[in-house]
Amino acid sequence: MFPRKMGLAWEILAPAKLNLYLEILNRQASGYHELETLMIPVRLYDQLLWEPTVAASGRQNRLALHVVNSCVEPHGPSHRGPSHRVAQQEQLGNLVPAGSDNLVLRAANLLARRAGVCATGVFTLRKRIPTCAGLGGGSSDAAAALALANAAWGVGYSTGRLMELAAELGSDVPFFLAHGAAICRGRGERVETVGSLGRLHFVVVKPPAGLSTAEVFARVARNPIPRSHAQRSPDRLARLIAALRCGDLGAAAEWMTNRLEEIAETMGDFVTQIHSTMKQCGCRGQWLTGSGSAYVGLVRSAKQARHVAGMLTARNLGTVFPVTSC
Ligand code: C5P
Repeated sequence: MFPRKMGLAWEILAPAKLNLYLEILNRQASGYHELETLMIPVRLYDQLLWEPTVAASGRQNRLALHVVNSCVEPHGPSHRGPSHRVAQQEQLGNLVPAGSDNLVLRAANLLARRAGVCATGVFTLRKRIPTCAGLGGGSSDAAAALALANAAWGVGYSTGRLMELAAELGSDVPFFLAHGAAICRGRGERVETVGSLGRLHFVVVKPPAGLSTAEVFARVARNPIPRSHAQRSPDRLARLIAALRCGDLGAAAEWMTNRLEEIAETMGDFVTQIHSTMKQCGCRGQWLTGSGSAYVGLVRSAKQARHVAGMLTARNLGTVFPVTSC
């Protein structure tokens, strides 16, 4: 995530993430779940802009946010008119609130408070990443706001310090400041980068229904977590990373898994439906990302991603995105 100065304004791109592996190890006393997950950023971006305004008198923060829900259909007919686009945004659950509880404003205000900066200006967030999808859109926006404000306001915090603030905003937020693939542990906030895993290609399907992270984890909490999950996880994750590093997609697909998928399956039959359709369409492996509801298929090339995306779009399962890792 790299902020870019454009005249007086600043811009940053906030990528989506995919979980290639997610295991639940334990439950923390706080109620959060102890995870081991492999996440990678992908080339599906929200765009965040910040423009300064004249500083108000006094020491009060004056930050505003405009949200532009500009999710265009990434694959399929693109000239169906504005009413279709609005319907599609509603279908995506992509109409994000612009109030003070938006993660962009929460992140910027948190940084301003901690750094003792009097923050003013207007953020514009152009949403392309579907929400309630397990694609990390809100977390990525929060991380982007921290990185942008840190540069634009001359705060000069290190990445480590920004990651501490990020962890206060949400479990997945620190990952987006880490640049590249990473194993995330704890509730997700302990980030260990793993270096390059090569260029990977995927097809993502976001079904019309979204899933709430809190609700999915609330269902996890109703069941005991077998100790074998924690015992086997490091070995399985190491095998996955080794397979990805040597480009063996067949072996990698064997180890790609998401423990939350069992729970998501109980929350709607779309999970099983998308899983079997992706398999029929030639994906090497397919699984839920994060707490869903988006579903990911692994393919071998960008060309195959476009081809499979076309087939999946024709099956009307939801909105389809061919994506590559960043
Ligand atoms: O941290 P974040 O806001 O993304 O988490 C949303 C909700 O998901 C939390 O309130 C918690 O209920 C649940 N969660 C969890 N264990 C995690 C991450 C999230 O139980 N590791």
